[in-house]
Amino acid sequence: MYFSGFNGAWIASPFWRASFMIRTEDEIRQAQQTDHAYCWIDVHKGLAPDSDSAALPPDESAAPPSPPAAPVSAAAMDPTGPLELDLSDALHLYEMARQTTQEVFSQARLGKSLDVRKCKELVEQIAASVAHNADALLSIIRIKRADEYTYLHSIAVCTMMVALGRTLGLDDKACQQAGLAGFLHDVGKAFIPLALLNKPDRLTDQEYRIIQRHPALGHAYLQGLVGVPDYVLEVCLHHHEKMDGTGYPSRQQGQQISLYARMAAVCDVYDAVTSHRVYKAAWDPADSLSRMASWQGHFDRTIFLAFVKTLGIYPLGSIVTLRSGRTALVIRQNRKDLTRPVVKAFTNTASMETLENEIVDLGADGQTDAIAERSGEDWIKSQGLRC
Ligand SMILES: [Fe+2]
Ligand SMILES: [Fe+2]
Repeated sequence: MYFSGFNGAWIASPFWRASFMIRTEDEIRQAQQTDHAYCWIDVHKGLAPDSDSAALPPDESAAPPSPPAAPVSAAAMDPTGPLELDLSDALHLYEMARQTTQEVFSQARLGKSLDVRKCKELVEQIAASVAHNADALLSIIRIKRADEYTYLHSIAVCTMMVALGRTLGLDDKACQQAGLAGFLHDVGKAFIPLALLNKPDRLTDQEYRIIQRHPALGHAYLQGLVGVPDYVLEVCLHHHEKMDGTGYPSRQQGQQISLYARMAAVCDVYDAVTSHRVYKAAWDPADSLSRMASWQGHFDRTIFLAFVKTLGIYPLGSIVTLRSGRTALVIRQNRKDLTRPVVKAFTNTASMETLENEIVDLGADGQTDAIAERSGEDWIKSQGLRC
């Protein structure tokens, strides 16, 4: 069986890896001796836990949620499962991805070949994480220091491409292809001076034209390597095209733009506007979707709507005001009703009181509070941040 983690922090696990193939009785015994109530078995990667020997002993002191009784697909795993564990695993993966991405950009900058197989393996793990619990990695990819943007943006676009592909009904192979293309889409930025990429002031027209060369530079670099698939080259060159033909570098229109490039256009812009940059503060996620929806001719409409469905109407990290007057941060989606996510309330506007760690599940039975309005943009302005 393929072990995907316990219902608790990975750090408390007897295993040094967050997920792996269980091959020995001893490993099962080690798992049984922990205090964890249950664990996850990924039936996509191994056998299903259909015998008594695979079951953990009952824990009388706690009433744990039931593990999946019957074989279930990883994609069908309970989206309200143990987020703490998933976050811990996703952080681990993110750290690994950060190292790989830095290597890729360093190699590219030196004009050396990058390890395509290593990139594919990383994307495979990102795809598995998204299939298990998309919210975990989708919330972690939001964490970026402005000066690390170029590296971390690659991981973010890769993750969102995989998640979007799943919403669009693409199969696993296609989702991974989209993810790999997203991972390498901006490799051309390795050939643009960092001083220009991180310039805090407004770019001159000439500087803007230099930055606009990154798709062609990345394409030329990847084309010179062995084993880079065509769809990666395609997305690298065309992720800044727009549906109405006003994009660059080829002014492609509509369906002339490949599916993966149309997907990348949405993921790329969303990550750019919701990230802190040296020259601007991050936009609120829900406000960003709302603004992007109003940009006529930029994105493929069907893909954009699937993207909203993927992230939620109030994506993770959005600031909202509840009917009760509380201001809250969206921390988890409710896939059954995207209008009722799980939030963390941090102020009560009416009483001006600061609330600590008040988690509110707006989708819970008997919950009377609800989102009254998006308030991210107003909140950002009230904090004196620049949009
Ligand atoms: Fe780009
Ligand atoms: Fe990009």
